[in-house]
Amino acid sequence: MRSPRSSELREALRGFSGELRENVSLSSATHLRLGGPAERFVEPQTDEDLVAVYRVCRDLDVPVRVLGGGSNLLIADRGVSGMVISTRALNRVDIHRNRISAGPGVTLPSLLRHARERGLAGLEPLVGIPAMVGGAVAMNAGTRDGETFDRLASVTVVEPSGEVRVLARQECRPGYRDGGLGERVVLEVTFDLQEDSPAAIHARFLRSLERRNATQPVTEKSIGCVFRNPPGRSAGQLIDAAGCKGMSHGAMTVSDVHANFFINQGGGKSADFLSLVDDVRSRVQVHAGVELQPEFRMWGF
Ligand code: EPU
Repeated sequence: MRSPRSSELREALRGFSGELRENVSLSSATHLRLGGPAERFVEPQTDEDLVAVYRVCRDLDVPVRVLGGGSNLLIADRGVSGMVISTRALNRVDIHRNRISAGPGVTLPSLLRHARERGLAGLEPLVGIPAMVGGAVAMNAGTRDGETFDRLASVTVVEPSGEVRVLARQECRPGYRDGGLGERVVLEVTFDLQEDSPAAIHARFLRSLERRNATQPVTEKSIGCVFRNPPGRSAGQLIDAAGCKGMSHGAMTVSDVHANFFINQGGGKSADFLSLVDDVRSRVQVHAGVELQPEFRMWGF
């Protein structure tokens, strides 16, 4: 693959918003606080500029990765080559009647606050998930109470070809913790909600949050659930039963609160996280005969 000189890329991106930077640390952009730098990094300020940057990278054969909230992401210690495009600045929210549209950089807590204030119900299952809208759709983030696609009406995406398309819900094939969008980049999402009183919505938020706070290590540096739940089983329960709670590799520890959460106690390495994942996986395999599948995305491995 051709690696364009910085000056060539810089020239091609001239005039677009969001300064092109090199060797940019990514660890603080992930919830685990792990991982090395991005070779190139840009944070477009408009949808049009995101699309333009995406197309330029495509034309110059620069691999592109899109960074959202970094909550379900493990980045290699040595970092990632190519371009990382942050969607953080694309955070507008529009509400028309019972429909709410959000850019990929809107955080779920902010989306839920807008919905509650406008008396729009339906997003309650997503309360407490520390994601941005783009990542939540890409991963079909959810809980036992529901998933991101449950209320999704349409999603605007950039196709790998660079073309922008609006996909209706019926055109999407989301699965468990997978939005089924492949390489497409989320540009905007519209949710279809129903009216209810803000007080009733708030009460449901609080109930879910209380449950979550009691069963998950929500204030720690983690990646959320490490493994998918195997059909009809709970990964947390399987890891717990295999005696893995409290196990550690370097600064990475299996949470005592919920065994499917691995915590960075500080100063950890991505390599330690992965070796803990492998160790836990093989112990569960031996103990229960179940092969757990990781739920998070990996960059640079
Ligand atoms: N359990 C244990 N030990 C543990 C953890 C759990 O025995 O260390 C038991 C619990 O007692 C319970 C069962 O396992 O009987 C299930 O646990 P929990 O209710 O906490 O739910 P979960 O299946 O572990 C799922 C989602 C979470 C979501 C919660 C709440 C997955 C992989 N996990 O967890 O999603 O927040 O339900 O709705 O689907 C995520 O995907 O990142 C995530 C955190």
